[in-house]
Amino acid sequence: MKDPAPLPRSTASAAPLFHVGPVPVCGEAILSPMDGFSDWPYRSLCRQLGSAMSYTEFIKAEFLVNAFEHMGMRLAFDEAERPVAIQIYGDDPDELLQAALLVQGVRPDAIDINLGCPARTVAHRGAGVGLMRNPLKVARIFRKLSAALAVPVTAKIRLGWDDCRNYRLIARILEENGAAALAVHARTKEQGYGGAADWDAIAEVRAAVQIPVIGNGDVCQAADIARMRAHTGCAAVMIGRAAVGNPWIFAGRERSEVPLEAVRRVMQTHLDRNLAFYGPRKGLLLFRKHAIQYLKGNRLPRPVRAQIIQQDRPEEFLRLLEAALSGLAEGP
Ligand SMILES: Cc1cc2nc3c(=O)[nH]c(=O)nc-3n(C[C@H](O)[C@H](O)[C@H](O)COP(=O)(O)O)c2cc1C
Repeated sequence: MKDPAPLPRSTASAAPLFHVGPVPVCGEAILSPMDGFSDWPYRSLCRQLGSAMSYTEFIKAEFLVNAFEHMGMRLAFDEAERPVAIQIYGDDPDELLQAALLVQGVRPDAIDINLGCPARTVAHRGAGVGLMRNPLKVARIFRKLSAALAVPVTAKIRLGWDDCRNYRLIARILEENGAAALAVHARTKEQGYGGAADWDAIAEVRAAVQIPVIGNGDVCQAADIARMRAHTGCAAVMIGRAAVGNPWIFAGRERSEVPLEAVRRVMQTHLDRNLAFYGPRKGLLLFRKHAIQYLKGNRLPRPVRAQIIQQDRPEEFLRLLEAALSGLAEGP
């Protein structure tokens, strides 16, 4: 992707904090893979503001195998985003291998296998966190993929299911079968996205394996990054929902400290990238859910926010945004 709106790059440390196989990773916070959010426009923005690497939204192995030519937008990334992990999911070892070999052709830095998705349509068909119910299959998948691929293979897991919290076992199986790094979302399948994340469990995984462990869950503000690292000893922290509308979290800045002008500039950059990537109509439509989150962090009255978000022309959207934010800046 050619960047239509460059931002200054973050000054995050250039020294690697850890490696995914041979690939150095510089920085302690990483944008989570999030279907519908971690597309090229938002990933590249977060990466520029300090996210240490990029994970794509998950892609179904079956779609890659049967319709690879239609997967271009899901697979798109730019060189400045590296290291890039492309995440895939499925339940069939041979299909996952076939998909991974195709994905390897677009030259990612790693291929990540999803063992965490709790959606019924995924987990109850044996993929996502459904795989954690089948440790032998997990071993088979990782043995096959790590032997056949030239790029490192990584995994993102949960704690398991409420009746089978087998995260330590799965972590060891992953390591023994060639996984190069492991992200742990510290909730069970049944917890979904609610309830407290169990950071002690991340520390247990960290103690059980030698490969880098990336902790995930309940990182709500910038200060939580250091807190999770200190509590768990994890190599890095992955941030999902708290990063939506708040890419500054990757620069270690609390949302309340971000000046309005920086909010306006980043929103404009994000929108420009959405328009360039998806085209004007779809680009603005898909930007709306991000805009809602960006604007939540400010003191704009709800009707003003609603009026901005409902605009269906990018120029009008930006004009109203600018007027509303400069009104706030001049306010009492
Ligand atoms: C809308 C949404 C989409 C998600 N899509 C993915 C995905 O494609 N792959 C994945 O591994 N996890 C996915 N997740 C899970 C997140 O990566 C992360 O593990 C989870 O949100 C917990 O982190 P958080 O508490 O920081 O949000 C998704 C989460 C949300 C909210």
